[in-house]
Amino acid sequence: MYVIMLGAPGAGKGTQADILSQEMELPHIASGDLFRRALEERTEVGLLAKKYMDKGELVPDGVTVKMIVERINQSNCAPGCIFDGFPRTLQQAKVLDEALGKEGKNIDRAIYIQVPNEELVKRLSGRWLCRRCQTPYHMVNSPPRAPGKCDKCGGELYQRSDDKEETVKDRISVFFNQTVPILDYYQEQGKLVRVNGNQGMQGVAEEIISALKAGIK
Ligand code: AP5
Ligand code: MG
Repeated sequence: MYVIMLGAPGAGKGTQADILSQEMELPHIASGDLFRRALEERTEVGLLAKKYMDKGELVPDGVTVKMIVERINQSNCAPGCIFDGFPRTLQQAKVLDEALGKEGKNIDRAIYIQVPNEELVKRLSGRWLCRRCQTPYHMVNSPPRAPGKCDKCGGELYQRSDDKEETVKDRISVFFNQTVPILDYYQEQGKLVRVNGNQGMQGVAEEIISALKAGIK
């Protein structure tokens, strides 16, 4: 099963993709995490992506699509995967359909996690992430058991440089201008599910899982 998590910055895509990935035993493919890893490794893609990420802008489609297509061609994506943060433009959505179509596969569901803008800003300002496994925490909503350490792998927690208030505002407006148009693309194919992201993490997860189960005949 191939599932896409859509939502504004801070909506909970990463949080819910992690839960779903464990529940469904499918890999979690996060474009932002792949770019941040590439930057840590100082690769050409990572250094290029940084220029856009620092400004809250989208990395060009050609670079992004190439990175994702390489990832989904790896054997552990054969049974499916959970996409988080990809696709983000109509062009990316179409290329993804083509790449899956070549293997006789397709997107099953696109989940849109809806959260009001003022809540997004609160979530991002309190977010800490594991440097090693990228698990997100929140200082108020989901603090780690030991301060500064990841519960899952013991990695060091850090705050993302693009979570500064000015960059967050730019990222939110990029989402509404460039990504919201793809909601119609999935709606027209009967694949879009809207869930209320403005509730506890478990409540959001339950809505998503029941929507996916309802879709499996
Ligand atoms: P990316 O890393 O994808 O960032 P984003 O879309 O801005 O989203 P976030 O990761 O900030 O939020 P999230 O929805 O994952 O929320 P989370 O679960 O962490 O992209 C970063 C950059 O990379 C982009 O700006 C762009 O430059 C580039 N990029 C990436 N993909 C690209 C693409 N396809 N094309 C071009 N460029 C691309 O949750 C947030 C916080 O809230 C956490 O602290 C969490 O604990 C908390 N939380 C989560 N759920 C709840 C809840 N229900 N209640 C209370 N708190 C909650
Ligand atoms: Mg994320």
